[in-house]
Amino acid sequence: MDDSMDLMKLSEQSDADLDALYAAPSTPWLRVNMISTVDGAATGPDGRSGGINNAADKRVFDTLRRLCDAVVVGAGTARDEGYRDLSKPLVLVSRRGELPTRLRDAEPGSVLMATCAAAEHLDETRAFLGEEHVLVLGQHRVDLVELKRTLAGRGLASLLSEGGPHLLRDLLAEGVVDELNLTVVPRVLAGEHPRITNGPPVDVPLRLSLLLEDSGTLLGRWLT
Ligand SMILES: NC(=O)c1ccc[n+]([C@@H]2O[C@H](COP(=O)([O-])OP(=O)(O)OC[C@H]3O[C@@H](n4cnc5c(N)ncnc54)[C@H](OP(=O)(O)O)[C@@H]3O)[C@@H](O)[C@H]2O)c1
Repeated sequence: MDDSMDLMKLSEQSDADLDALYAAPSTPWLRVNMISTVDGAATGPDGRSGGINNAADKRVFDTLRRLCDAVVVGAGTARDEGYRDLSKPLVLVSRRGELPTRLRDAEPGSVLMATCAAAEHLDETRAFLGEEHVLVLGQHRVDLVELKRTLAGRGLASLLSEGGPHLLRDLLAEGVVDELNLTVVPRVLAGEHPRITNGPPVDVPLRLSLLLEDSGTLLGRWLT
């Protein structure tokens, strides 16, 4: 991809254009889609990312959902954002292995749990989801390299992670992020809000490959 980048208008792109612009160049591929305000807040006044998103973000969010084989989220995000059954398989990442209440009656096979052998809720989650839908990927932590490999082996090779900040930090630290999509909304909030990453330092250089604009909202596609 080119180093010099034109700012493209989101409104001039059809859904088919967006599908082409965001196509994964190869598989397995893991992209993470996040949103923040200009001053770096990853949540709105309501304490959720839903409090800062807008129609432009929703268009790219929908594109990335359309293109992926599965959605990967941290258990914290699934709890806070009230994730329910999706059109694509949902992969939860949780050290404790606890299935959020509202996912306990999910369609069989629509939700997978990635957790570790020491997870306190392992047996209960196996009973809810079925043993084959609970991936034990490590003793005391979830091995995210192994997660990407295991999901690809199940035909889920194009992965979309929707965060949250702790999971994004860990995915970056383990070197499994191929692409970061960041929507910057034209707002400033101050106050106390998480950033899009949370946890011990990482330092991952990124290369801008696409920048879309819509009424001051910037939608960047960055490759690692
Ligand atoms: N701005 C955005 O784009 C965006 C996107 C998503 C979420 N958010 C916001 O972020 C907030 C939630 O933040 P968060 O950092 O708590 O989200 P998170 O990373 O989704 O959740 C943290 C929890 O997820 C599990 N987890 C994360 N990384 C893990 C790993 N490497 N291995 C095993 N388990 C892992 C753990 O669950 P267990 O405790 O179950 O072990 C952990 O307590 C919410 O307010 C949400 O609205 C913002």
